[in-house]
Amino acid sequence: MSKSPKGGAPRARNAQSKKGGSRKDNGPKRSFAAKRDNRDGRDTRPARDARGGQKENTAANRSNRREQPRSAPAPVAVEPIVREHKPTSARFKTPASILPVMVEMNGWEDYALLDMGHGQKLERYGRYTVIRPEAQAMGAPRLPESDWKRADAIFTGDVEEEGPGRWKFAKQVDEIWQMKYGPATFNGQFMSFRHVGVFPEQAAHWDWVGQQIKKSDRQLKILNLFGYTGLASLLPAALGAHVTHVDASKKAIGWARENQELSGLEDKPIRWICDDAMKFVEREVRRGNTYDGIILDPPKYGRGPNGEVWDFFENVPHMLACVRKLLSPNAQFLLMSSYAIRASFLSSHELMRECLDGLPGTIESGELAIRELNGPRLLSTSLFSRWSAPDNTKAEGA
Ligand SMILES: C[S@@+](CC[C@H](N)C(=O)[O-])C[C@H]1O[C@@H](n2cnc3c(N)ncnc32)[C@H](O)[C@@H]1O
Repeated sequence: MSKSPKGGAPRARNAQSKKGGSRKDNGPKRSFAAKRDNRDGRDTRPARDARGGQKENTAANRSNRREQPRSAPAPVAVEPIVREHKPTSARFKTPASILPVMVEMNGWEDYALLDMGHGQKLERYGRYTVIRPEAQAMGAPRLPESDWKRADAIFTGDVEEEGPGRWKFAKQVDEIWQMKYGPATFNGQFMSFRHVGVFPEQAAHWDWVGQQIKKSDRQLKILNLFGYTGLASLLPAALGAHVTHVDASKKAIGWARENQELSGLEDKPIRWICDDAMKFVEREVRRGNTYDGIILDPPKYGRGPNGEVWDFFENVPHMLACVRKLLSPNAQFLLMSSYAIRASFLSSHELMRECLDGLPGTIESGELAIRELNGPRLLSTSLFSRWSAPDNTKAEGA
């Protein structure tokens, strides 16, 4: 992955490629299905002695065997997992799979994960240090309590997005302050629901999108769905892409436009659209419009401007089917991230693979994590699946 503008660089590490972690090792393999192939999970393999040999056919063993289920199915051998999905024929191509991929975001000039533990995280956003609830921070904090006590703001109360939690401030803080990432300057603000206007871990995805734009070596037409305060629109626009940004919230669109101005990117071609993402996508399909790159970062639940309900598990299959139709014949990428952590990256991978059947290229799926400053720990934030066209060739058959 490319370096972040300053400080740590987001890094992608394929857990599969770790030494000794490969599924293709030739060591002894245990067949899970052979061990638990009946519904109640009893071991139905032939009895073995302590050294692994099959037990003698003695009377005692025969009487023991009577207690075994009479119609125990024969053990089934399980093939090792094959992750490279080769084209099934010359006509039907399907993207290759890489998973699990652990993408690490190491912080940047205006963001650091300072510490975490006991259900909270201590972070720095520009000039402010904040404490927020974090269900994934299950261990103990590493820094002394005095460091936590120096935080400028703490969000307390209900940890659910819709809950009534609130910010408490240790000193006078500005309502709005500025931060930077590469060519983008943007406003931070202490929002209800514990957010501050940026999801800093997304920097790893912004960089990946940047790499895709550079790799394509042409002006890409990009669609950014659920675009929030606009970082994932501004950064591609700064690299020369034509961007269509869609979000249901007028307030978020206003904030994104302010960020565009602050960044001096007013002359860049960004269409700001306040609409329900699903409706917009369906309309684009009917119009026959296409895009070379699509980013979607849907919430678990959301509302369109006219009260349209977005439910990740209900709507994402139809959304991805429509998004597939919106990929241009020489599309470069599709990126979906999700904070609906109850889903697995494997489910989002399989869904994307199903939707993109017929395309060449590669789908990678995994988790996006933040590495703490000066420490070894990672904080899992979200899931992602991302498809990219093969290097040096354009995707066909989209
Ligand atoms: C998780 S945030 C996206 C974060 C953003 N991609 C980033 O990295 O900064 C979710 C966004 O989805 C928007 N949203 C929720 N429901 C929506 C819907 N039905 N249609 C369009 N946007 C929606 C919200 O207004 C919010 O801005």
